Amino acid sequence: MKSVSPLAVAAVSLALLSTASGAKPKAVDLSKLPPAAAKPNVTYAADIKPIFDGTCIKCHGAEKTKGKLRLDSLAGALKGGDLGKVIVPGDSANSFLVQAVARIVPEDDAMPPADKAKPLSKDQVALIRAWIDQGAK
Ligand code: HEC
Repeated sequence: MKSVSPLAVAAVSLALLSTASGAKPKAVDLSKLPPAAAKPNVTYAADIKPIFDGTCIKCHGAEKTKGKLRLDSLAGALKGGDLGKVIVPGDSANSFLVQAVARIVPEDDAMPPADKAKPLSKDQVALIRAWIDQGAK
């Protein structure tokens, strides 16, 4: 039997892995994230829901639930979607939702889709970061 080089095996398993994980975020440059807002006691109800209502709910609510992600409740946001959890309480930089709205992911994964809605402002991204860093309450 002809021997298969370990490199070829590694390449095949990598290819399989990336197929299996679908749209999993690739390595992104976290240094490009705007810093978290300094505001204390940021909550979903008071600060974040208005942002999601304005820009995200039309695709991530009861009517349409793109990526199986609902952002119209705190529970839905924490539950995540097709990718699994998109919010890591206490770690906004590694939360896919933050990387997506800060648009540091490949443009196809950035949220909201560029042709469908206005991108969030730096201040809105900073507030979402503060909310998640403070525990996503
Ligand atoms: C015009 C429709 C639209 C709007 C508006 C929109 N999204 Fe999305 N979103 C999508 C689609 C479609 C997907 C699925 C992407 C895919 O599968 O490639 C998605 C997926 C996501 C995901 C990944 C979910 C998962 O688990 O797969 C996140 C996080 C996300 N959106 C966050 C947001 C946020 C936050 C906003 C508002 C700032 C937003 N989206 C606004 C259409 C939208």
